Amino acid sequence: MRCVVTGGAGFIGSNLVEALLGARHSVAIVDDFSTGRRENIAPFAKRIDLFEGDIRDDALLSSAFAGAEVIFHQAALASVARSVESPYVSHDSNASGTLKVLVAAKNARARRVVYASSSSVYGDTPVLPKVEDMKVRPLSPYAVAKLAGEYYCGIFPALYGLETVALRYFNVFGPRQDPKSEYAAVVPLFITGVLDGRAVCIHGDGEQSRDFTFVENVVQANLLAATSVNASGETFNVGVGESTTVNELYRTICDIAGRRPDAQHTGTRAGDVRDSLADIRKARRLMGYDPRIRLREGLTRTVEYFRGC
Ligand SMILES: NC(=O)c1ccc[n+]([C@@H]2O[C@H](COP(=O)([O-])OP(=O)(O)OC[C@H]3O[C@@H](n4cnc5c(N)ncnc54)[C@H](O)[C@@H]3O)[C@@H](O)[C@H]2O)c1
Repeated sequence: MRCVVTGGAGFIGSNLVEALLGARHSVAIVDDFSTGRRENIAPFAKRIDLFEGDIRDDALLSSAFAGAEVIFHQAALASVARSVESPYVSHDSNASGTLKVLVAAKNARARRVVYASSSSVYGDTPVLPKVEDMKVRPLSPYAVAKLAGEYYCGIFPALYGLETVALRYFNVFGPRQDPKSEYAAVVPLFITGVLDGRAVCIHGDGEQSRDFTFVENVVQANLLAATSVNASGETFNVGVGESTTVNELYRTICDIAGRRPDAQHTGTRAGDVRDSLADIRKARRLMGYDPRIRLREGLTRTVEYFRGC
């Protein structure tokens, strides 16, 4: 299969590229390196076609997508906080960028686009776990843009004959996630802080909960979404189905790393949701999704990765 991974130099994208190459697919990536890193693709750079530039560049997409069967659309400015600071930048890259990808995929006569959406679309709906057909209530420009991308995905099968699948990722973590960005996610921040013996910062009381999902599970969901006959036109939660508070996360990381520096509590962040947990029965039923890597094993592997950095 010839595949394209947009955002292939990012955290999730580069893990997906590696798995696709391992399964002997031919892979091209489109990335502008705005948040992605060259070292993420260094181990397999000679085996991919790199199209360096922005997903909003029609000519670039037309070259990258020529002859492609499946497009895995991972490229986005993946941060709630960043979107609160710069809503239009987030919208343009994430919502308009997704529409550009869909139109280019249709023009290239690709078979399917698998779209990286986000659990943030649920916002603060009170019901847990989140089920795909419940009402959404996005709380940030990032979540609105991700939802707009889902809606665009939803109209392409019937209007243009392009198959689409939207995957709502729940708090993904694992090797290659950037700990240094000012918008870094909690797992790489905690792990690198604990390994360095620095005080880590916990937003609010730390009792907010998430469904932390190891990246290998997300890669599995993408591979299934590319081929599952029943998946086209659907939206799926991609999590593990287990709830962990940020305080529990911190304690588990300290336990694995064998160190426990101080944790400092600061104010809550605008746009953040309180609790998030996936119901993954739909992905299990229609695609055979089976997230095998649970939190502790994923964290152990991630701590090992950051120890080696
Ligand atoms: N990490 C998570 O927990 C999580 C949760 C929900 C959804 N997602 C989604 O998963 C996808 C991947 O996220 P990630 O955590 O790997 O982030 P990341 O920042 O590591 O990767 C995003 C990649 O996209 C590239 N990119 C960004 N804007 C671009 C543009 N306009 N043109 C070309 N390339 C561009 C970046 O350079 C980067 O390589 C994103 O769509 C994100 O919204 C991630």
